[in-house]
Amino acid sequence: MTAKIIDGKTIAQEVRAEWKVRADALKARGITPGLAVIIVGEDAASRIYVGNKVKACAELGIHSEHIALPADTPETALLAKIAELNANTAIHGILVQLPVPKHIDSNKVLEAISPRKDVDGFHPQNVGALVAGNAALPPCTPYGAMNLLEKMGIEIEGKHAVVVGRSNIVGKPMALMLLHKNATVTICTSRTSDLAHHTRDADILVVATGKPQMITGDMIKPGAAVIDVGINRLPGGKLVGDVDFDSAKEVAGYITPVPGGVGPMTITMLMANTVQAAERAIK
Ligand code: GUN
Repeated sequence: MTAKIIDGKTIAQEVRAEWKVRADALKARGITPGLAVIIVGEDAASRIYVGNKVKACAELGIHSEHIALPADTPETALLAKIAELNANTAIHGILVQLPVPKHIDSNKVLEAISPRKDVDGFHPQNVGALVAGNAALPPCTPYGAMNLLEKMGIEIEGKHAVVVGRSNIVGKPMALMLLHKNATVTICTSRTSDLAHHTRDADILVVATGKPQMITGDMIKPGAAVIDVGINRLPGGKLVGDVDFDSAKEVAGYITPVPGGVGPMTITMLMANTVQAAERAIK
């Protein structure tokens, strides 16, 4: 069997067009959705991500502010900047690119962002809402992965979904979102004993471990939908996911490529959350 490729780039364009309609409707009422992205330090990968976010905003007509702070910015200065953005009515979404330098407490930073402007969905209040099943601003990467499943017409209800990885950014929220869609959910980590025993039973397999190509074709149930959230650069420079694409695509029913799978959806859902935050601001 050769899997159907889940084309994240094309689906992201489709979803962006849907959200652009909502952004345009706000503009017609005199409100331009606004996103502030703060980056602290010089991390090269983070700079690329932030650049892509700013570009996507321009595409949707979302106002964006890119705030680059030096790596030695004191925590108090970052918190003061967030307080200023919380009070700025032109800004509906605030994102602080993670990781932040070690001298800054990331929990303090995430808690300082107004929950109404927390487009990452990382504030404890929004995490609580997600657990309860009524998240207004769901974390972007799992939200994007859920959109991919939906757009591909992959049934979730009653299926066994296995999530490998339990991060706050992807694994935990992903498991909750699948659970709310009535999947039976198993959460594994890269250290789970006999991991293959669990993954081989998955109708939907989501992998977010940060370990390059750790899931191979022999660990996948024939016909399963495989969502690869990983993005890793091999020593030779090649970008690969947490799934070994070449062996997995021979077994899976559906699979996301890396790059071009989940990645484009993450940014799209950030745009969606910014528009959603702006809509809620005027209610
Ligand atoms: N760094 C890696 N992923 C993310 C994300 O989803 N949000 C933020 N703020 N930083 C990240």
